Amino acid sequence: MSTIAISNQKGGVGKSTIAVHLALHLSEQNKKVLFIDLDPQANATKTLKKIATPLNFFASDLFKKLDFKIDNPEIINVIEADSLMADVERYDSNVLVDFKENIKKLNEIYDYCIIDTPPTLGLRMTGALITSNYVLSPIELEEYSIDGIKKMLQTIFGVKEKWNPNLNFLGMLPNRFNPRSTAQKETLKTLIENYSHLLIPAPIGIRSSIPESLSLGLPVWNLKKTAARVAGQEFKKAFKILDTTMKENNNV
Ligand SMILES: Nc1ncnc2c1ncn2[C@@H]1O[C@H](COP(=O)(O)OP(=O)(O)O)[C@@H](O)[C@H]1O
Ligand SMILES: [Mg+2]
Repeated sequence: MSTIAISNQKGGVGKSTIAVHLALHLSEQNKKVLFIDLDPQANATKTLKKIATPLNFFASDLFKKLDFKIDNPEIINVIEADSLMADVERYDSNVLVDFKENIKKLNEIYDYCIIDTPPTLGLRMTGALITSNYVLSPIELEEYSIDGIKKMLQTIFGVKEKWNPNLNFLGMLPNRFNPRSTAQKETLKTLIENYSHLLIPAPIGIRSSIPESLSLGLPVWNLKKTAARVAGQEFKKAFKILDTTMKENNNV
């Protein structure tokens, strides 16, 4: 019923990490979740393949007319990233019509579709933004990141205005936050001053238990380690805010 794009034009900010955790969080509430990996790095696919069932077609197939039937959706299914996706960027933008149609059909089967996007503004990111009803943007708070954030917000609100009025911005989720960094604290302060209404007030700290949990195919809150507990709590705090926003929105 809901499609959530995880998007930011910057790489390495935690899109795939947060997308996977969000999918696992929703699946724990017994929602049927489809994860669509449009990132050719395929980090999310690698993690999710350990626990989720892949569908019998690939992400690049979504940009074509596609005949599929999914009789038994699992708690989590994944449409894997594949190498042919690089070619999608050379297709005519008309393929977005097929993409949109395919996502619409998948939406009828699952409670949530989570789309992990590549960091470049091309057909795949545009496709994700024009078909989703929510977009979440993980951000990092390094010095000089404000310019990138402005560009990202322009893209999202530009797509909303021109192509997809149903797109709701869930907000910017600060990730890899280091409370000891003066530069990061300054950036956070600037963001609160300028964009507090677009900021999710639940930063996720930089913690080694996060990549460790992903390499095991687990959400960090299921990693049996004291160091993982805080990270798990931070994710849950942020996701609770998203749950509330989406619930309020869906009831409107
Ligand atoms: N909060 C965090 N703490 C520590 N490492 C993180 C955190 N978030 C992401 N990472 C790591 O940073 C790298 C980039 O994250 P990733 O989710 O792949 O970013 P993106 O998808 O935006 O390129 C990965 O190795 C990931 O495990
Ligand atoms: Mg990624």
